[in-house]
This record gives sequence, C-alpha cells and structure tokens, in this order.
Amino acid sequence: MIEDQPSHTAIHVAATRAAHLRFDPPPHLLEDSMAEAFLGDEYAGLIDTLDNNAHWVLRENRLFVPLRARWVEDEVARACEAGVRCFVILGAGLDSYAFRRPAALHDLEIIEVDHPATQRFKRARLDAIGRKIPDGVRLVECDFERARVSDTLFAAGFDAGTPAFVSWMGVIYYLERETARGALAELAELLGPTSGVALDFLRPYEDLSPRYAELTRLSGQYLKRAGEPHVNFLRDEDLEADILEAGFGEAEVVARRTLIDRYVRALHSEVPLSERFGLAIARK
Ligand SMILES: C[S@@+](CC[C@H](N)C(=O)[O-])C[C@H]1O[C@@H](n2cnc3c(N)ncnc32)[C@H](O)[C@@H]1O
Repeated sequence: MIEDQPSHTAIHVAATRAAHLRFDPPPHLLEDSMAEAFLGDEYAGLIDTLDNNAHWVLRENRLFVPLRARWVEDEVARACEAGVRCFVILGAGLDSYAFRRPAALHDLEIIEVDHPATQRFKRARLDAIGRKIPDGVRLVECDFERARVSDTLFAAGFDAGTPAFVSWMGVIYYLERETARGALAELAELLGPTSGVALDFLRPYEDLSPRYAELTRLSGQYLKRAGEPHVNFLRDEDLEADILEAGFGEAEVVARRTLIDRYVRALHSEVPLSERFGLAIARK
C-alpha cells in the first residue's frame, strides 16, 4: 500500500467486476451493480481497458474476480442457514455485498475491515453517490501489518459468541506469510463453533502452465508501481497446513473442477478459469 492512497488493486478488482457486467454476455456470475458507481468519473476509463482486447491475464481475472465474489456470497448464504449471524469482510475494498444482499439476510450483521486509506476512499465515494451505510453494517479501519485483526474486531463491537463467517478475498498474497499466519491464528482463537473463513491465495507460477512465467515480470512491475507487490505464493498443501496449524479444525482448498462445474460451465467463457488463484475455506 502507498501511504495515504487507497488500494489500487481494490479499484482494479471493482473495475473488473464492472467489466464482467459490461463485456461478458449473460448469464453473469455476479451482478455488482455498484462497482461502476464506486469508481466514478476518475476511474471510469479503467473498465474499458478490461474489454475483449485486454491482455489474457486481465481477461482471466474478469472470470476469476466475479467468480470468487459469487462463491463467497454462496458460502455466506450457506453459513447463514447453519446459524451464522455476522459476516466479517477483511480487506473489503469496494465490495458491495452489504448494499445488495438478499432481503432474507437483511438482519445479518456486516463488519467491513480495510486499510484506513482505502476505507476513507470508500466512504468518500459513498457520500459522492449519495449512498448511506445500511443499518447493521460497519466500516472499520485496520492496517493488517500494524494492528491485530482481533483487537480491531473487538473494538468494532464484534461478539465472539455470535457464529461468524469471514471473507478474506484478494489480500493474503499482499501480506508476508507470517502476517497471514498470525491473522489466521487470531481468527481461529476468536471465532466460535460453526464459524469459518473463506480466502483466496496465489500459487507459485513455476508450478503452473508455462504461460504464467511472463507474469512474474509483467504483473510484478505493475504491482510494484501500485505499491502492492505479491509476496506470498502458496502451494495448496502449504495453505492447508497453515490453516490447521493456526488452530482451525478443517482446511479445504476447493477443487478447480468443482468451481468449473459449479460456475464456469454455464458461461461459455472464452478464457479458462485461472490456474494461479485458489479458493479455500478454514472451518472451526
Ligand atoms: C485486491 S483488493 C481486494 C478487495 C476486495 N476484497 C475485493 O475482492 O474486491 C485488496 C484489499 O486489501 C487491502 N489491504 C492490502 N494490504 C492491507 C493491509 N496491510 N491492511 C489492511 N488492508 C490491506 C486493500 O486496501 C484492498 O482493499
């Protein structure tokens, strides 16, 4: 993160969700109707750079980014059926779930946590588009590299006795592995039974198809300029080990085949589901 600047990657993934709606034919994985408004005039042009002429990795992101958001939203719905009453979104960025959640989940408490600079940007954009933060939704500030997630959540009124579902999307690869492991351990201690954490992670490029080799250079340069370099690459078994060592009872990396069957097959997508990102759940 660049001091006092909102996360550039948060803006970029919001543009990616907007581009999914604009450039991909229906059916859509996710109708993030607020993404474009969040970006405003200043970042509107970014959406056009993600059209069908974009670099293949940006087109891959146009499939993966809405897919991971949709997957989380499906998992939240499932968790609520099992008794979860609080949804914590760590590194929420410009996530808009709190503004368009299903009516049946209107009483779900939502705590969005993000870096102070990103959180200020989100509040400013909400003011600019005249949207109020809904009742039961809190936006709180935390720099994961400097403060404990559990302290932040307690200060925000988090009740450890309430079963909670935590989403941690698009974040752990920007954190040192030790920081991510520490936060997982805090969450394992904090969360009660039936709670869980959904997260995505980045696999080492050398394990993947040869086309990913160029990303080490390409996205490395871009992300360094944005102040958000990828520093944490994990094999599936390493993430599962980190989750279990943190104190969770169960760790599941969702099989790529499952995601393809559940979400991608119906889309007639021209690009394959990314190999580099994985989705995982830690359960108490
Ligand atoms: C790629 S964005 C993902 C945003 C959101 N989860 C989504 O999928 O749209 C990464 C997010 O992590 C947050 N982040 C990165 N480093 C952070 C840190 N040290 N402390 C708090 N938040 C951080 C950024 O502010 C940003 O919102």
